[in-house]
Amino acid sequence: MFSRLARPAASGLLRGFSTSAQKNANVAVLGAAGGIGQPLSLLLKNSPLISNLSLYDIAHTPGVAADLSHIETRAKVTGWIGPEQLPEALRGAQVVVIPAGVPRKPGMTRDDLFNTNASIVATLTEACAKHCPEAMICIIANPVNSTIPITSEIFKKHGVYNPNRIFGVTTLDIVRANTFVAELKALDPARVNIPVVGGHAGKTIIPLISQSTPKVEFPQDHLEALTVRIQDAGTEVVKAKAGAGSATLSMAYAGARFVFSLLDAMNGKEGVIECSFVRSEETDCTYFSTPLLLGKNGIEKNLGLGKLSPFEEKLVAEAMNELKGSIKKGEEFAKNFK
Ligand code: NAD
Ligand code: LMR
Repeated sequence: MFSRLARPAASGLLRGFSTSAQKNANVAVLGAAGGIGQPLSLLLKNSPLISNLSLYDIAHTPGVAADLSHIETRAKVTGWIGPEQLPEALRGAQVVVIPAGVPRKPGMTRDDLFNTNASIVATLTEACAKHCPEAMICIIANPVNSTIPITSEIFKKHGVYNPNRIFGVTTLDIVRANTFVAELKALDPARVNIPVVGGHAGKTIIPLISQSTPKVEFPQDHLEALTVRIQDAGTEVVKAKAGAGSATLSMAYAGARFVFSLLDAMNGKEGVIECSFVRSEETDCTYFSTPLLLGKNGIEKNLGLGKLSPFEEKLVAEAMNELKGSIKKGEEFAKNFK
């Protein structure tokens, strides 16, 4: 049996390759030469679960691929550059991870990235719909609250939509919540698990501290400050990088954690749970992040919100309008995308 509070099984993989499984997944990274793409590809190259790692970008992929290909692990690395090579980059892909897109600069919201990133994501996911329609699609590119509805609409247009295989990667919010709570309570962060639900922007990021494993408690003012820190953690990094982009290394870690969980589940491991922003019927928002039980075919069961504290219920209610607006904006864009 599984517990919705279990720490994802695959996280051990990032801490010393403890898995015994040797499987043969084909994984493609689109945007592989970027700030996230490069360290993410390095972590994926280190995994015994992956036999082929296909790296695509509009620049610099031959160099990144040549560099990674010298690492003494089994994954065969190929590099692809430019739109004419995209079909080949996607051939046989079972998991596609997409960090392609521009990052924020100080003073910007994630939604300010929409104008540039919406068409990048639509173009790349259209290629996925054509060339690897059955692959698990993991979108990192912001604004995630809009890029997942865009991806879904593109797959619908091509008649290959399967909502159980399209994921908005929100894992960094969980990673941050675990880290911050562990720091405040002097716990080992590897043993902390905090579900984070809703979406991936400001107030739509909703940590469920009341569902923490192990159980932790904070006075209300501390709880509110911790919640705001988790919601603003991306902005904290954007400010600290002072114009040089947003989170890349922690995002690479989080992206790899999500992909390893997905691969473990696809390989038949039971009880693998991750939060992700997906098509959902758990609230009156059509897309929402909640803990998901993953399986061979993607989402096996949506585990829902669970029991919320009154404070968390208020946070969910306050997120709805923004989430619905971002979803509608993505859907409208995709409908008009040619
Ligand atoms: P970056 O600018 O360093 O890298 C982006 C890469 O995408 C570049 O190599 C660029 O050449 C490539 N690219 C651009 N257009 C492309 C296209 N049409 N096809 C293929 N590749 C293309 O940016 P980054 O720091 O890696 O961030 C990437 C995205 O991830 C941003 O949108 C950022 O906001 C987002 N992000 C999301 C999360 C999350 O939690 N989901 C966390 C951090 C960053
Ligand atoms: C993050 O949470 O770090 C990312 O969404 C990047 C950003 O713009 O904050």
